[in-house]
Amino acid sequence: MEKTVKLLAIESSCDETAAAVVKDGREILSNIIASQIDLHTLYGGVVPELASRKHTEKIDQVVTEALKEAGETLSSIDAVAVTYGPGLVGALLVGVGYAKALAWAAEKPLIGVNHIEGHIAANYIEHKDLTPPFLCLIISGGHTHLVHIPSYGEYRILGRSRDDAAGEAFDKVARSIGLGYPGGPKIEKAAREGNPEAIAFPRPRFDDAPYDFSFSGLKSAVLNYLNECGMKGLPFDQNDVAASFQAAVVDSLTERVMLALQETGEKKFAIAGGVASNGSIRNALKNLCEEQGVGFFSPSPILCTDNAAMIGAAGYIEFREGRFADLSLNGVPALKI
Ligand code: KG4
Ligand code: ZN
Repeated sequence: MEKTVKLLAIESSCDETAAAVVKDGREILSNIIASQIDLHTLYGGVVPELASRKHTEKIDQVVTEALKEAGETLSSIDAVAVTYGPGLVGALLVGVGYAKALAWAAEKPLIGVNHIEGHIAANYIEHKDLTPPFLCLIISGGHTHLVHIPSYGEYRILGRSRDDAAGEAFDKVARSIGLGYPGGPKIEKAAREGNPEAIAFPRPRFDDAPYDFSFSGLKSAVLNYLNECGMKGLPFDQNDVAASFQAAVVDSLTERVMLALQETGEKKFAIAGGVASNGSIRNALKNLCEEQGVGFFSPSPILCTDNAAMIGAAGYIEFREGRFADLSLNGVPALKI
């Protein structure tokens, strides 16, 4: 039997300071998340400088707790994995700097992990039986990607957003209708009380790139609608706007996924990223997969939003391949998959 591999993983790319210990890329031994939501709520969105400072304040405590809860020490783990991009540069640097120091001091290998690959890998933790090939839709605050994964660590991008990410659209629309930050969960809640057919918001498509997404037009359509209501002196129904906006997002996503399933003939489909914790989106994609006879995989909501366990799962793929980083590892804000 192969030796078990335990990775200490660190995530600090945006507004969550997180550390985890993950066994063999699939099993969580600990998963500690210090959210900064309360801090950024005061400002209506993530303030990069404050995020970096908060990471610096919290990282030591979070890592210590993750090791303690897992019953591990720096000497008993096999490697240190850390998110090095994409994300806010100052925030990334806190995690990268800390991980480098730990790896050097403990004489352990260092692994640089792509945050988006981490989101995908959250599915390996939730579903022990999930193996490539499969299709994955990553919908987060910064990214909207439809990806084909033929084997571990290999990613073929079928489509991406040409402008705003899905989560960004949720956050901006939430702000414009007075729901505040963080927008995703608030829109979801308001949408439950609203009529998804009340307002016909656009569902843009590109003939030359049928898998590409666009959400900035949808956001503008919501703003135009609100302006029109304002000019006519009419009140708008917050719940109806939320429900109609969410319905347009659901349609845009399901249409591309349907096409990708048909064209690739893939029999497994997974979702990932913060927006994938949205119940309405999850249900629509699950139903679509059932209709198409395709296996549907989704991480539980806590593994959809930013966490370090997913970084440990993605780091394990690098570990198996022997892809290690050295102490020149740096934060790469626009890192691609
Ligand atoms: O993956 P994530 O935690 O961070 C990034 O890597 O971006 O995603 C955060 C995004 C935010 O835009 C947030 O509004 C959105 O995920 N989100 C949601 C929900 N929960 C979080 N969007 C829609 N519905 C939700 N329930
Ligand atoms: Zn994320």
